Amino acid sequence: MPISRRRLLSAGLAVAAGTLAGCSSSSTAKDGGSEVEVFSWWTGPGEKEGLDALVSDFKTKNPGIDFNNATVAGGAGVNAKTILANRLKANNPPDSYQVHAGLDLQSDVRAGRCEDLTYLYAQQGWKDKLPKSLLDAITLDGKIYSVPVDVHRANLLWYRPKVATDAGITAPPATWDEFLTQAEALKGKGLTALSIGPGWTQKHLLETVLLGQLGPDKYLGLWNGRTDWKSTDVLATLAVYTKVLSYSDIASAAGDWQPALDKMIAGTAVYNVMGDWAIAYLSISKQLVYKDDYAVTTSPGSAGVYDFLSDSFTLAKGAPHRAEGEKWLVECGSIGGQDLFNPRKGSVPARTDTDRAFYKGYIAEAMAAWADSDTTVVGSLTHGVVANTAWNAAIDTALATFVRSHDAAAFATSVASSYESSK
Ligand code: GAL
Repeated sequence: MPISRRRLLSAGLAVAAGTLAGCSSSSTAKDGGSEVEVFSWWTGPGEKEGLDALVSDFKTKNPGIDFNNATVAGGAGVNAKTILANRLKANNPPDSYQVHAGLDLQSDVRAGRCEDLTYLYAQQGWKDKLPKSLLDAITLDGKIYSVPVDVHRANLLWYRPKVATDAGITAPPATWDEFLTQAEALKGKGLTALSIGPGWTQKHLLETVLLGQLGPDKYLGLWNGRTDWKSTDVLATLAVYTKVLSYSDIASAAGDWQPALDKMIAGTAVYNVMGDWAIAYLSISKQLVYKDDYAVTTSPGSAGVYDFLSDSFTLAKGAPHRAEGEKWLVECGSIGGQDLFNPRKGSVPARTDTDRAFYKGYIAEAMAAWADSDTTVVGSLTHGVVANTAWNAAIDTALATFVRSHDAAAFATSVASSYESSK
C-alpha cells in the first residue's frame, strides 16, 4: 500500500520528536542528574556579577542540575540575539533565554519561539506580585510568556562630580539646550562632553534625546503611530541629536558600554548616557563610591520620567530540558533570587514584595521612583519595550546611516515607512 505524503510527513515528525526526546535523556549529566542551558548576554563586568549570584542560588536549591551558562558577549544582546535566532531556526533551542519584556518578547511569541507560562504563574502565585505595567508587557492575548527578573531605567546621565566641577560645571544639564551650552564650553577646554559606544548606545542616546525634547506623550506617540516622524518638532529634535553627537567621541566610539564609561571614569569625557546597569559596573567592578566618585541624574529634559525596560527569561519551545528550565524560571521569579540578583545588577526587582533592606544608595532611590504614582513611565526603544523586533532592526540600519549623513528627513521617512511595513 502506498504511503501517503501526509503520513510520511507525520512519520518524519515522529522521528524528529523521538530524536528530541532521545537528546533530552542522553544529555542527562554523568552523575545521574540533569542539566539546564540558559542563554543570555550577561558575561561582561557589571552584568556577570548579578547573573552569577542568581545561578549560585539556583545551584544551591537544585544540586542535581548542571547549569550550562550559555552567554554571548555584547551589550544589549546585539550579538546574542543573532546567535539565538540562528539556533532557534536550526531547531537547537537553549532551555531558557533572556528577552526584553514588551514588543521584543511579543515578536518571539508570535514567531512561536516560547511557551505560554500562565500555568507557572498560577502555580507560583506570581500574578499579583508584579506591577501591572510589567505584567502587561509580558502578556499577549491573556497569556503570560516570560518571567521578569528586573526593571532597569534607561534615561540616565552619568558623570564624575569632581571632573565636572574642575571643568567649571556647577550642575548637570537639565535640558539638551543646556547640555549643548556646556558642551561648547568643555570643547574650549579640550574636553569631550559625551562618551559614546557602538550603534546600540547611539540608539540609546537617541531615545533619551527624543524623550527629553518631545516629552513623554509625544515620545510614546512615536511608537504607536500618533506622533508623525516627519513633523517639524521631530525633525528639530533629530537635529538636536546630531548636534549632541557632534560633541561626543563618535569618531573613536568605544567598543561597548563599559569602555564608553571608562572614558568618563578617566575624565577624558565628562558625561555618559546609559541605563542603570552602569551602577553595577561603577560600584562593583570599578569600586567607585556613589555620590563621591560618580553621580547620576535623569537625562536632560526627562526628570520625573522612568524610561523602563525589563529583562525576562522564557521557556523555549522545544526546550531539551523542560522540567529543569521550569526550575530556572522558578528561581528567576523567586524573592530570594531577585534579592540576590538586583542589588548586583543595578536594577529594581521585578516583584513588588521583595526585601527592601537589600537595596541601598542609587537602587533604593530608583525603587522609590519606580513605585511613585507621580512618576511617568514610558518604555525603552533600544531595550525592546516599544518597537517590535523587525522595526527595531530597521531603525538600527537607518540610524547607522543617519549618524554619518545627518539627514534627519531621510531618517524620519525611513523610520516611518518601516513602522508601516513591520506592523
Ligand atoms: C540591556 C539589558 C540590561 C543590560 C544592558 C547592557 O539590553 O536589558 O540588563 O544588560 O543591555 O548589556
